[in-house]
Amino acid sequence: MQKLTHNVLHPGFVVELRGVDLARHTLDPDRFAEIVTAMDEFGVVVLPGQNLTDQQLLAFGERFGPVYKGPGNPARKKTAPPGVAEISNLGPDGELVPPAHETQKFSDGNRFWHSDLSFTAGGAAHSMLCALEVPAYGGETEFADTARALETLPAAIRDKIAGLKALHSLRFSRAKTGYVDPFQDKRQKPAAFSHPLVYTNAKTGRRSLYIGSHAGQIEGLDEESSTVLLDELLSEATQVENQYSHRWAVGDLVIWDNRRVLHRRGDRVDPMERRSMRRVTVLGDLTGVAVDENPAL
Ligand code: OGA
Ligand code: MN
Repeated sequence: MQKLTHNVLHPGFVVELRGVDLARHTLDPDRFAEIVTAMDEFGVVVLPGQNLTDQQLLAFGERFGPVYKGPGNPARKKTAPPGVAEISNLGPDGELVPPAHETQKFSDGNRFWHSDLSFTAGGAAHSMLCALEVPAYGGETEFADTARALETLPAAIRDKIAGLKALHSLRFSRAKTGYVDPFQDKRQKPAAFSHPLVYTNAKTGRRSLYIGSHAGQIEGLDEESSTVLLDELLSEATQVENQYSHRWAVGDLVIWDNRRVLHRRGDRVDPMERRSMRRVTVLGDLTGVAVDENPAL
């Protein structure tokens, strides 16, 4: 029996669920099952009015599976516990930092359509972002439905990509953003993992495109043909009818499935406006093959 109110924001793609207070019901199995069922059907689930502490957000994320605790923004002094990433334009003292600040250069990668952690072997399953402070203007997060995109691709392109794999690595996304890791000298060069262009959800059987800014090279194709095909897939995936733009309110918890959704921070960002969120990322079930090994990732 449904306990939550379901409000479809984009048919088959985004649903808003009301009637749960996760701070109180984090571990309620019935409500959790209803959220999981919604996650299987939709790519994005919005839960308004959740004012979760870092620990509550982490505990909720861990209900879905093991969460990512690897390295985050190298320039940011961490104030949140391991497993909780700070996505904000604030410094550790809570004050606004300028867009040119080292921490912001790293988060600027979020401006490009991507799938979280696709540069790792397992990728990410669900990411959840909880809004603590939101700007009065702009600051949206945009999502694109790559399951619908795959279903509506011209048959010739669908046939062409069947069986193809792309390499995903931070070095590809960083080449796009121009980001230079200030600590790169002390680390190994970023790993690359190969993942099929088409992901199949083991539970629902639904297929989706697995691409985004970390994908940079298709195995067996030359660099130019790779780039042309990846650009074409991205532009198909992000057609306006496949998109949903989330306008944040304080306390919103938005969960998305990185295996069927691409996301990015929208362009309407006012650097004078505070924007602060916390993210927990659940590890995915991909079986990427390492091309360059980097045990740190
Ligand atoms: C993220 C992300 C986009 C945003 O946290 O993974 O891509 O709008 N965020 O901040
Ligand atoms: Mn992201």
